[in-house]
Amino acid sequence: MTLLQIMADSDATDVRLRTADPEVIGAELKRRGIVFARWDAPAVLTASTSTDHLLAEYAERIGELNADGRYRHIDVARIHPDDDDPEWPAKAKGAREKFLAEHRHAEDEVRFFAGGRGCFYLHLNGEVLAVVCEGGDLVSVPAGTRHWFDMGARPDFVAVRFFEEEDGWVGDFTGDGIGEKFPTLDELLAAA
Ligand SMILES: [Fe+2]
Repeated sequence: MTLLQIMADSDATDVRLRTADPEVIGAELKRRGIVFARWDAPAVLTASTSTDHLLAEYAERIGELNADGRYRHIDVARIHPDDDDPEWPAKAKGAREKFLAEHRHAEDEVRFFAGGRGCFYLHLNGEVLAVVCEGGDLVSVPAGTRHWFDMGARPDFVAVRFFEEEDGWVGDFTGDGIGEKFPTLDELLAAA
């Protein structure tokens, strides 16, 4: 379920809006300068769908988004649970912790979730907007926006990433522990 929960940045229990309506989510994010879009899913994609197949399925949409050639590096990030791999819990923990603290990027952080889910927390103008993205969701976090990302205790997603520069994913960490004060992806989903 795609979800938006808006909270006061000083108090996570001050929930100002919680909605799963894609139109409301798009409108609320647009008002704050955040791009959010839904791309229709093509044929069923699963954890075993290859990266090449995935990019081919979305080639037209990706081409439209990158009509001006702004994104010179487009790749696919994916992580899926593998309970047969004894290293999986450590890999999952490491992946999750990478962007769990508040940071910014020098360029827009553009992600299209082809499957699975992850949550962006956007910190701007006294609010924290938790945006739970699922398959079909495209989100663009503007350059310089304070944010963090939670993929949950059991990370499972496939996302197309769009970069202007090869190192566009590098984060400038603010050192603010704000992320620890807000509900995790799993807690957001568990809340009624
Ligand atoms: Fe980021």
